[in-house]
Amino acid sequence: MKKRIIKNKISPLSFNGGWGGSYAEAPESADHIQLKDTYDLFINGKFTAPSSGNYFDSINPANEKRLARVADANEKDVDKAVAAANHAYEKVWSRMPAAERSKYIYRIARIMQERARELAVIESLDGGKPIRESRDIDIPLASAHFFYYAGWADKLDYATPGAKSKPVGVAGQIIPWNFPLLMAAWKIAPALAAGNTVILKPAETTPLTALKLAEIIQEAELPDGVVNILSGAGSTGAALVNHPGIHKIAFTGSTEVGKIIQKSLAGTSKRYSLELGGKAANIIFEDAAIDQAVEGIVNGIFFNQGHVCCAGSRLFVQESIANTVMRKLKDRMETLIVGDPLDKNTDIGAINSKDQLEKIKKYVKIGTSEGGACYQSSCSLPSKGYWFRPTLFTNVSQSSRIVQEEIFGPVLSIQTFRTTEEAIEKANNIPYGLSGGVWTDKGSKIFKVTSQIRAGVIWANTYNKFDPTSPFGGYKESGMGREGGLHGLMPYLEIQH
Ligand code: NAI
Ligand code: MG
Repeated sequence: MKKRIIKNKISPLSFNGGWGGSYAEAPESADHIQLKDTYDLFINGKFTAPSSGNYFDSINPANEKRLARVADANEKDVDKAVAAANHAYEKVWSRMPAAERSKYIYRIARIMQERARELAVIESLDGGKPIRESRDIDIPLASAHFFYYAGWADKLDYATPGAKSKPVGVAGQIIPWNFPLLMAAWKIAPALAAGNTVILKPAETTPLTALKLAEIIQEAELPDGVVNILSGAGSTGAALVNHPGIHKIAFTGSTEVGKIIQKSLAGTSKRYSLELGGKAANIIFEDAAIDQAVEGIVNGIFFNQGHVCCAGSRLFVQESIANTVMRKLKDRMETLIVGDPLDKNTDIGAINSKDQLEKIKKYVKIGTSEGGACYQSSCSLPSKGYWFRPTLFTNVSQSSRIVQEEIFGPVLSIQTFRTTEEAIEKANNIPYGLSGGVWTDKGSKIFKVTSQIRAGVIWANTYNKFDPTSPFGGYKESGMGREGGLHGLMPYLEIQH
C-alpha cells in the first residue's frame, strides 16, 4: 500500500523579515482638500495683500513641489495688524461678557473637528509629517486646546483664587514648523480665553494650516481684528517682537532666536514666554518592561522625524541590559517605514526642509568624526524630497557635540549607566531642561528620578504624551513660562492682588 502523504497546505507563520516593506500602499486622498494658489495676510478679519507685494513659496518637502504662494509680511503689515488687534481689544473683545467669548472659542474648536481630515492632509503635505500623526495627534489635540480653554473663559476668577485678573492686551505669537496647527492652538486658545487679541506668525515652511485657521476664524464669525495671522520669515517675527503696540510675546522655536528675543525685550514693559530647545534624557532601568521601553525609545526619538523639542534624543540604558536593548532596538528600527507622509503605513515622513536635512547630515558627520559609532536602518528612501534614515550613535560621551546639542532629527545618542545617581547626574549635565523619560518597574525610582532631574515634563513608562490640561515648558535654556493647563493662562493674565 502506498503511504499517504499529508501535505500541510497552511504555511507556518514566519516572523523573519516579513514586516518592513511588505504592506500594500494605503494613501490618504488629497482630492478633498482645497488650497488656493495664493494666500494673503489675515488682518482685521480680511485677507489682505502684503504691502511689499512679495510672496514666497510653501513647498511639500516630500516631493519639493510648490503647494501655494504665501504673502511675506513686513513692518507696515505688522503695523496694520497691531492697530487692528488693539482696536479689537479695546472696543470689542475685552468688553465682551466672558461667556460670549467662550462661545466663539468653542465654535473654532468644533469647526476644526468638522474639517479635521482636510487640516490633517494639509499639515502632512506642507510639513512632511506622517498622516497617522497629523490625523491622530496634531489636529485632535489642536481642537482639544480650543475646547479646553473655551471652558476657562468665564471661570477666570477661579483661575486666580483671592485675586481678580484682567487680560494683558495684544499678544504677538511666533511659532515653529514642527507642529504648525497645534502650536497655533497652544498660543491662540489661552490668549483668547483670557480676553487678549492676537497676531500670530507661522513658520515660513509651514504656513498653510494657520491660513486655513484664518478661514475657520472667518467662518466662526469672530469679531474683526481679534485674531490676525501674518505669514513671513524671521524679519516678520522680529517686527512683531519690536513693535511698541504689542503687550506680550509668546515664542516657540530655537534657543538661539529665543535669546535674541529676550535681549530685544529687556528693559521694555512687554511680557514674554519662551518655549525653546531640548535634549531630553530617556532613562531605561534594568527592571523596566524592555519591550515597552523599546517602543518608548522609538516614539521618543522618531516621532515627527525627531523634529520635537521634547524628543528623547539622549538614551541612557542601564549597563546590565544594554546588549538586549540594543538588539531589540535595532530589530525594531528595521520595521520602521520611511516614505510618503500621506501613506497610512508610514512611520517616518519627510524632513521638514532642505536646511533642516543639511543640519542633520552635518551633525551625523560631527558625531562620526568625534569617534561615535553610527548605525542606520536599511530602509529604502524615495528619490525626490528630503529624507533621513532612523539613526543611532553609540560610543559617545557626555562631551560629544551630538550629545550636548539639539539636532532636531531622527538621530539618537546612546550611553550606559550603572547607578541611579549616575543616570541623574548625566541627565542633568546639559544646558537644556525641557523633558525626560524614565522606565522602571519601581515607583520609588520614578519619584527619585523625577524629583531630581531639572526638566519641565518627565514621563514615566511612557513618552510624548500630551493633554491640554497639563502644563508644558522648560527650565534653563529650554525657556520660561508654561503652556497648557491652568498654568498656560497665567502669561495672558494681569493678576491684581
Ligand atoms: P527658528 O527659531 O529660527 O524659527 C522659529 C520661528 O521663529 C519661525 O516662525 C521663524 O520665522 C521665527 N524667527 C526667526 N528669527 C526670528 C527673529 N529674529 N525674531 C523673531 N522671530 C524669528 O528655528 P529654525 O531656524 O526654523 O530652526 C533652527 C533650529 O531651531 C532647528 O534645527 C531646531 O534645532 C531648533 N528649533 C527648535 C524648535 C523647538 O520647538 N524647540 C522649533 C523649531 C526649531
Ligand atoms: Mg511647506
